[in-house]
Amino acid sequence: MTEPEPPSVAALSLAETATEPVKKATEQEINPWDVQAAVDDDGNILEFDYEAISKKWATKLIDDELLARFERTTGHKPHRWLRRRLFFSHRDLEQILDAYERGEDFLLYTGRGPSSDSMHIGHTIPFEFTKWLQDVFDVPLVIMLTDDEKFLFKEKLTQTEVYQFARDNAKDIISIGFDVKKTFIFIDSEFFTSGYNRHFSLNTTEFEKLITNNQVRGAFGFHGSTNIGSNAFAAKQCVAALASSYPFIWGNDIKTYHRSAKLAAIPCLIPMAIDQDPYFRLVRENCSRMAQPSPKPAILHSKFLTALQGAGGKMSASNPNSAIYMSDTEKQIKNKINKHAFSGGQETLELHREKGGNPDIDVAYQYLSYFEDDDEKLQKFAEDYRKGEMLTGDMKKECINMMTKYVKSFQDARAKVTEETLEEFLRPRKLEWRGNPKVERKKVEDEPVTEGGEGSAVGEDGKPLTKNQLKKLQKAAEVERKKKEKEAAKAAAAQS
Ligand code: TRP
Repeated sequence: MTEPEPPSVAALSLAETATEPVKKATEQEINPWDVQAAVDDDGNILEFDYEAISKKWATKLIDDELLARFERTTGHKPHRWLRRRLFFSHRDLEQILDAYERGEDFLLYTGRGPSSDSMHIGHTIPFEFTKWLQDVFDVPLVIMLTDDEKFLFKEKLTQTEVYQFARDNAKDIISIGFDVKKTFIFIDSEFFTSGYNRHFSLNTTEFEKLITNNQVRGAFGFHGSTNIGSNAFAAKQCVAALASSYPFIWGNDIKTYHRSAKLAAIPCLIPMAIDQDPYFRLVRENCSRMAQPSPKPAILHSKFLTALQGAGGKMSASNPNSAIYMSDTEKQIKNKINKHAFSGGQETLELHREKGGNPDIDVAYQYLSYFEDDDEKLQKFAEDYRKGEMLTGDMKKECINMMTKYVKSFQDARAKVTEETLEEFLRPRKLEWRGNPKVERKKVEDEPVTEGGEGSAVGEDGKPLTKNQLKKLQKAAEVERKKKEKEAAKAAAAQS
């Protein structure tokens, strides 16, 4: 055996400096109410680690194979945000492609929490993407504006304020170009008191009964002093993913007490930023336990858009210089990008010419990558920048032109959205869509409407389940639920 060596000089001096206050490293935090990038030992904000969050939450990363399948099935080249992995992860997208190939309906669903009256590009991008998906698949879309959520979670906001934000935001969303024939937008506080929400409410109550306090605490980090509205809200955002919540979209009777098992069996696809995933894990874990079971909703997860200050930063309503707002003037856009967009270029012109810049951390380049559809052009920008042939000023100029064009065309569309247009989108009504043009659409509404209740649940083949099949499914779901509840109780205990 060798003698333990005496501590080296280096180790000693390390031990000494360790008594000085060090800026502590923190892990990234991602949940529906708080998104923070990790911080290193020196207090520097790091980039988000999206692979880590995908691993932690067991989502699937989008790969080239899936995108090739997407293109084969839909006949559309995947959107640049898929190609460039701004939408980087998913759950069960294949199931949606399967349903589309069979000519079956699915529901597109997304939403926004209206916490301010002004939207920035970080807010519009998920909706731009949803609009593209709607165009590609030609399916019905619901957009949920959760004014109730924002009222419950934000101490300072009043109900009147969040409702007005919701109306303003809805107009912004409409400006993106959604087709009113295929799109139902609802503001929670309005829809939930309208009389059209009977099936939505029945779904909510049923779902509320399936979820325990421990489960929401585990999923969202709530505690004993969290208001009861916040606890209950989760169920509403969850059941909004169930097609049976919207019988009117399929022209079904809204007055009947009975929900339609056929509508419950329609799948759903939810494009969203990854911080919303905890909600839909709850749906995925519990939807088979509903009296009329629903398939697990599919999800497309996006990254967070980079703030003007660079990676790890947040676009924030409290810092107008952190983002390009849809209400910004040409001059404001120019100033913001010139003054505040983090540059991957070198300190001086000479150094830049000599060493070249780094497009990967250059915010102007990143914004161009959101909006420039031409892959080759974008690649050339990157190459020229790296070679030092393209300067920071050139990159910023390209970015300013692109962003000005985008914001201007949005503003032109926004100016045309009247109160009447808004009311039309907000009106619960039958929607019209075609689905896959290559196959005959399997119309749910033409089939005889069965009475609701447990006996009318349908299996994956669309046929009614036998009592035995149903029992088996419910038993499996119950086992799953007990397991999850145990885990959640453990997590909640560890937190407190
Ligand atoms: N909770 C979301 C927010 O605060 C709003 C929302 C409701 C949502 N339903 C959704 C977002 C579905 C994405 C998908 O922004």
